Amino acid sequence: MSILIDRSGNRFLLTAGNMSYAFEVQADSRMINLYWGAKLDRADDLPDAGDRQWHRHCPDRQLESSLQEYPAFYGEYYHECAFKAEYADGVRGSNFRFTGSRLQQKSDHELLEITLKEKNHPLTVKLFYRVWPELELIDRWSEIINDADAPVELENFASAVWQLPPAPVDWRLTHLSGHWGKEAIPDRIPMTPGKFIMESRTGLSGPFAVPYFALDSGDAGELTGEVFFGTLHWSGNWKITVERDSYDHTAVFGGIHDFDNRIRLTPGEIFTTPVFSGGWSPAGFSGASQVLHRYQMRHVLPPAIAARPMPVIFNSWGCINIHVNEENILRAAKLATRIGTEIFVIDDGWQHALGDWFPDPVKFPNGLRPVIEMVRSLGMEFGLWVEIESCELASDLYKAHPEWTMRYPGQAPFTRCRADVDRTSVMLNLARRDVAEYLYRQLHELVSETGIKYLKLDMNCFVSSPGWGDLPPDQQGRIWIDYVYNLHWIFGQLSADFPELLMENCSSGASRADLAMTRFFGRMNRSDNQDALDMLKLHEGFTMVNPPRMAGGACHISDSMYHVNHRTTPMQFQAYCGMLGSLACGKDLTRCTEAELAEIRSYTDLYKKLRHVTNFGDFYRLASHREHPWAAFEYVAPDRSEAVVFLLGGSMQFADAVPPLKLVGLKPDALYEITCYGEKAPEGDSERQFHYHPVSGRGTANVGIPAELYGDFDCRIFHLKEARP
Ligand code: DGJ
Repeated sequence: MSILIDRSGNRFLLTAGNMSYAFEVQADSRMINLYWGAKLDRADDLPDAGDRQWHRHCPDRQLESSLQEYPAFYGEYYHECAFKAEYADGVRGSNFRFTGSRLQQKSDHELLEITLKEKNHPLTVKLFYRVWPELELIDRWSEIINDADAPVELENFASAVWQLPPAPVDWRLTHLSGHWGKEAIPDRIPMTPGKFIMESRTGLSGPFAVPYFALDSGDAGELTGEVFFGTLHWSGNWKITVERDSYDHTAVFGGIHDFDNRIRLTPGEIFTTPVFSGGWSPAGFSGASQVLHRYQMRHVLPPAIAARPMPVIFNSWGCINIHVNEENILRAAKLATRIGTEIFVIDDGWQHALGDWFPDPVKFPNGLRPVIEMVRSLGMEFGLWVEIESCELASDLYKAHPEWTMRYPGQAPFTRCRADVDRTSVMLNLARRDVAEYLYRQLHELVSETGIKYLKLDMNCFVSSPGWGDLPPDQQGRIWIDYVYNLHWIFGQLSADFPELLMENCSSGASRADLAMTRFFGRMNRSDNQDALDMLKLHEGFTMVNPPRMAGGACHISDSMYHVNHRTTPMQFQAYCGMLGSLACGKDLTRCTEAELAEIRSYTDLYKKLRHVTNFGDFYRLASHREHPWAAFEYVAPDRSEAVVFLLGGSMQFADAVPPLKLVGLKPDALYEITCYGEKAPEGDSERQFHYHPVSGRGTANVGIPAELYGDFDCRIFHLKEARP
């Protein structure tokens, strides 16, 4: 049993893997958190609620404020609220009473449901705790049910509140923020009294922040130390607030953003908040990431996609841009097969217009049929790009349905001009069910008619003029929220219709990097910025939350991102960095020499040889390019019989050497053979070439494996394989 309820029915001990979490319902019905941390075997070891206080002079009413599992605005509560509503009679406080719990045993988890009823109004809140028995992670969300015959206005509607245990020092918050081309960069700050808010207001979950937090007591590293973390599964506006009160209790509140949302619950209506997962690791930030990676591989990603290795992709964006046509695509396809491509993708430019998801008749006078046949006859699968949430003013769709656009009453929709592709578009109002249904039908038809095995969903703007057109103000509704639920509905349907379809969550590069999308999308554009050097830092932030194999994009092997830093990098460095995730090539193959084509082929062959480890193994960030001139990442096969280690250098200086790479996760007593790829001794110094002998797992951990990097963009891949007796 992962969930223990004591005999009085008011103390709950939840155990997920090696983590326990506990709370108690007090006599006055308040739910007080008792514990979050390493596994406890006995409920009797739990502290009393009073002992959870972290201050000797904390007045009683502060306990009322602190440590609550789901604090509602009421009485003397002055902190961040999980719940606040205004009832039809004008009352704005909610006093919940615990009315019962229900435990459900599911095939792969246990689910605890707690029911709370507001004392003075017919309103129910259900709190859900989904406990994964094999992972240090709990999913939480809530349901708000209006049992009255009058509407209720919701102002705060958090998915969950995570109460941190007392820390002897300041908690240190790790969060991920950035912008286009520099997404999900980790930052660390001490939590002093006050609040720190992470949020998105773009209508997408990014790109300025990721709905994620990690808290440690300041001494956790990548491989050691206790880390508490969480991530919200929501693809639109969200808010996560970390609050440390004046009595040193720290709590994390998270859910759909309360900004610009007016949720009016009609009689009988149920509002379900998104999942907020919370986890714990005793093994540092890499340990915390591993919990999230395993969770997504086992319980979030579409099962058929998670079970398969990620294919080598060729994408037209990096070399042909929007100027695709039958001729240049056929030419590219013939060369793409030679470099080992498994899925050939036509990116932006094939369509008649944004909104019209059929081929441009000028560029593809014979439709896509000849291209699809050629791609298949060359032994590759075919994929397409779409950006369904916008439509061009010049599209047939806009002419037929101008009322489907998102705009304020009496105003024209906000237009967006994208200079790089010379395109003016407006946003479709996906909050309208008819629009969502239309788009779903369009995509379903596109996938079934073309037989594509890969669909890339782009989104190159943020939500603008979020209005319902000419609907009366009281019906303008919760557009930000319905938009996201409908977006999920479209891709939920599509993923059920085509379970083998690999979809890429692109969004201009990680602008929707949230786990709600990962339920349908097996690949994510880690960043449009595929400058290989920048990728070292991007991969670090990306993998804090996402499984490394999901790190996609259009053109790891290419120079198409030259404009970002005005830098080119050697092809080997690009390819090795690309292999950290799901490898893609976007190079203009028509300009490659035979030797270059063969070189690219050698990289895709190597990727295929290693991906059973890199796509399915445990992942460790061994060394950060934020601290060293190099980065090192390790992937260990689930049975620990193999490992793949990447050592990726930026610029070496001062003749500095790389210290031996100390590995983790291998079997101490097993002997591993090591193959090193990419090694070259510097010119005239053949002495500096290493010869790798078998090393025991214990040796890899304590002595490390020697490596050297020279000059700029030097890199190595080590493949360790258990020697068979
Ligand atoms: C932004 C994406 O991130 C790119 O990969 C490419 O698909 C372009 N949009 C196309 O417009």
